Amino acid sequence: MTSGSKPRIGFAGLGLMGIRMAPHFLEKGYALTVWNRTPEKCEAMRARGASVAATPKDLAEASDVVFCCVSDPAAVERLIFAEDGLVHGARPGFRYVETSTISPDLAKKVDAALSAKGAAMLEAPVTGSKNGAQNASLLLMIGGSKDVYAELLPLLQVIGSKAIHCGPMGSASFVKLLGNTYISFMLEALAETSVLANKADIPLEKVLEVVMASGFASPYYTFKGAALIKRDFDQHFSIDLLVKDQNLMLQEATALAAPMPGLVAIRDVCQAARDQGFGQDDIIGVAKVLERAAGLT
Ligand SMILES: NC(=O)c1ccc[n+]([C@@H]2O[C@H](COP(=O)([O-])OP(=O)(O)OC[C@H]3O[C@@H](n4cnc5c(N)ncnc54)[C@H](OP(=O)(O)O)[C@@H]3O)[C@@H](O)[C@H]2O)c1
Repeated sequence: MTSGSKPRIGFAGLGLMGIRMAPHFLEKGYALTVWNRTPEKCEAMRARGASVAATPKDLAEASDVVFCCVSDPAAVERLIFAEDGLVHGARPGFRYVETSTISPDLAKKVDAALSAKGAAMLEAPVTGSKNGAQNASLLLMIGGSKDVYAELLPLLQVIGSKAIHCGPMGSASFVKLLGNTYISFMLEALAETSVLANKADIPLEKVLEVVMASGFASPYYTFKGAALIKRDFDQHFSIDLLVKDQNLMLQEATALAAPMPGLVAIRDVCQAARDQGFGQDDIIGVAKVLERAAGLT
């Protein structure tokens, strides 16, 4: 990393999360270069003062530290290992921060490839959704060397309000998948009980009033319950990406011979939502599958 002056930042992936995370680096006075598979999405960032790289390799060469936020393992494989991939621009001192939700094994594979070039990486999957990305209040789960974590902490604090070091490379991706398992169960609980309350003529507002006054209250029920009441399915986190994470979690569970029958059942409901055309809805859109099955719509 350049010493004495601010590092040059690169950002790969300007989707729902990345387009809200990347601008914080400009606002904090860092020189920023961006890359996105669909190049048109870079124009809004260029208008704000960012440079645009033609390839991930160019992005690496133009940056001291590259952050990445793309959809899934296939996207990270393309970003890093393609002919024009980021690994070909890595060199001693280069740093990479992976904020996408991917498998622990892929985090380790990228880490090994970058280490072979004398570079270093942190995995830093996030939670907090698009509001957290917008407000720089994401929670980051960190995996990798504690020294690299200490070195990059000032940059992590540009996009997040809290970071928790989970352990060696791969552990943060694993914890992130466990977190989305909690989300899956809470979501399914809200969706199923909303359908049942509806059929019993009990307003969801009343159910949530009791839940929020109880020992099992969670801000998540307020957030997603309000969206369900308003019929607001505008995407914060898509059903497509939640199913991606459920499948990644189930792969880990299979490898560890740990049964997850509840998650399998919930994944099937979420997959049904995709089959019915709701994959790009926010995850609370999964309720529509149950409403349909219950004859409510
Ligand atoms: N949304 C949330 O609330 C949330 C919260 C925590 C973590 N995450 C995680 O953050 C990551 C991004 O989520 P998001 O909601 O921002 O997703 P998104 O809106 O769907 O954006 C996906 C990004 O990945 C890029 N991409 C997809 N396939 C690619 C490929 N094969 N090669 C290169 N780039 C590719 C897309 O490029 P194009 O523009 O070309 O399509 C876009 O920039 C995911 O891993 C997600 O699980 C999301």
